[in-house]
Order: sequence, then C-alpha cells, then structure tokens
Amino acid sequence: MQSITITRPDDWHLHLRDADHLQAVVNDTAQQFARAIVMPNLTPPVAHCDQALSYRERIIAALDPTRSFEPLMTLYLTDQTTSEDIREASESPFIHACKLYPAGATTNSAAGVTHINKIYTVLEAMQKHDFPLLVHGEATGDDIDIFDREKVFIDHTLSKIRHDFPELRIVFEHITTADAIDYVLSQDHHLGGTITAHHLLINRNAMFKGGMNPHHYCLPIAKRETHRQALLKAATTQAPRFFAGTDSAPHARGAKESACGCAGIYTAHAAIELYAEAFEQTGNWSQFEQFMSLSGPAFYQLPVNAEQVTIRKLDWTVPDSVPFGDETLIPFKAGQTISWKLDL
Ligand code: DOR
Ligand code: ZN
Repeated sequence: MQSITITRPDDWHLHLRDADHLQAVVNDTAQQFARAIVMPNLTPPVAHCDQALSYRERIIAALDPTRSFEPLMTLYLTDQTTSEDIREASESPFIHACKLYPAGATTNSAAGVTHINKIYTVLEAMQKHDFPLLVHGEATGDDIDIFDREKVFIDHTLSKIRHDFPELRIVFEHITTADAIDYVLSQDHHLGGTITAHHLLINRNAMFKGGMNPHHYCLPIAKRETHRQALLKAATTQAPRFFAGTDSAPHARGAKESACGCAGIYTAHAAIELYAEAFEQTGNWSQFEQFMSLSGPAFYQLPVNAEQVTIRKLDWTVPDSVPFGDETLIPFKAGQTISWKLDL
C-alpha cells in the first residue's frame, strides 16, 4: 500500500486547552480533521452552555483562516448540573454531548461527579433529549489498582447506567482493555467506544523502556500487550462500534518531566498517520475509513464529511519538541520516524 485516500476524518475526543496553549495546538488538529469533539476540562470547567459557546469562539479565533474546522463542544458534568442545563445544551447546534469525569479520575477532574447517583435526574434528561454521554471510564479510589480501573468502572458504574438508561447514547472513551471491548460488543448500538492512536501503538512497557518515560504516561494508563492486541483487532475488524478519538492532551514539557508529572500524550501533529501505522501492523485496511471517518458521524448523527484526505507512504521525522506558549511540548514519537505522511 503506497497511498490511501479516505473521507476526511474527525477526532471524536480532543483536548485543546485555552489561550496561548490553544493557539499553539489547534491548527495541528485543523490540518488533519474536519471536526473534533472538544473536551471541557479547562480550569474552571466548561460546565454551562454560555461557557461552551464562548470557548467555541476562542477556538475559532485561534484557527488558521485557511482551514475549515468545526469544534463540537461538550459540557462538563458536575454534581450541580441540572436538567435545565441539558435541555439548553440539547437545543444548541454547537454543543453535542456531556462529559462525565468521575471526580479525581484525571487532569482537571476535581469538579467532576462524586457519585453517579448525583446525576441521575441529569442522565434521565439526557436520555429524554437524546443527548450523548461521554464517559471517562475509570473508577477512582486508592484501593483500586490503576490497571484495573476501567474494568471496575464497567462492573460498578457503566453497567448500572446502561441498565437504568438503555436508550441513552454513550461513548466509552479512550478504551484500553479487552474487557472494555467485550463490554461494548455485548451491548447494543447505544454504546460506542473510541480508541486512541497511542493506545494502539504502545503498551505499558513504553513508560519504563530504558528508564522512566513520562511522555508515555496518560490516563487511562497503557495496559499490557494482550490488551493492545485486542484494541488493534477491535479497531480494524469491529469498526462500526469503535471510532477514532485521539485524546491528544498537550502538557508543557516541564509539567510532564516533573516529580508529579501530568497525564497526557500529544498526538495531534500526526494523528491520522499514527492510526495508519497501527492499521499497518495488522495488514488489514478494510475498515480504516469506517473507523476514521464513518462510524463517528453515524454515532453522533452528523453528516459524513464531503472532503477527502490522502496519506502516502513516506518517512518523516517528528520534531524533538514544538512551541507551546512560553514553553515547549514533546510530541508523541519525538525525534522518531513516522512512515506515513498526510498530503496537506
Ligand atoms: O491522559 C489524559 N490527559 N487523560 C485524560 O483523561 C485527561 C487528559 C488531559 O486533559 O491532560
Ligand atoms: Zn481526554
């Protein structure tokens, strides 16, 4: 395979940050994707419609004017979110989902939901308005092993939400385990899953290869190789139920290379190419377009993009670092070769 042309993909899970950091990263995504579901975990969180709409304006203002890119906004659920917030969001053409961060699960999740019971009336409203729920599917609590958090979330929380709100559309985001794949496949079309490029490409060894490597630390944490193989199989053969969501999560180099380093891997500079490298490992390209460009719009009930993109077999070297406001960030595969290149 020397080149592949597909419908222009969308990124169904993205962190864009704000201000200088937003300016530094947004055009990497805009040159790859037509649209992206933008995560609301800013400080303070994007918890109300007016905040989402003004964040959207800031994103658009930071875009290279030659790019057409549409940010799809989300609301951050808190214990204080009301059914009225949901009704308002569901009526906005710009807000497409609500995000559930279990409090303490990840970066800027302190304002998240402390117990699922606190948002039961909100979930009922979301089901009623057919408004999608996006879940960071990890249980919290010091007693739960970090490698088991996704499975415990399925058993204790997600299965309960599915049981009590069977018509609620849910995206189980950035799944990392065979357990999550099996669970999505055991459910009907109301549940979909996103898979990141980095979870398709690295297993947990990458965090410790040749010493501790904080640039491979993200949440959910990368799991053992058997899980990565299961993710590759799901993306390449079960694409109607799974779709691309990069979870590209920029952090300044100093915040990563720190005694208490932040979780997050930056992949926006080469997202489509990284997914291509993952598919290439299996030799099975038959569902590449489905996974990258078709299953996401189907789940979100949005039109498929009209434009196409082409990637070519061509080696290029990822920069060692890229500017990030007053600082720099270290992109995924920094200083290494990627063997696919997107035509710009
Ligand atoms: O690795 C991660 N980084 N996982 C998340 O859930 C949040 C994200 C971030 O915002 O940095
Ligand atoms: Zn994320």
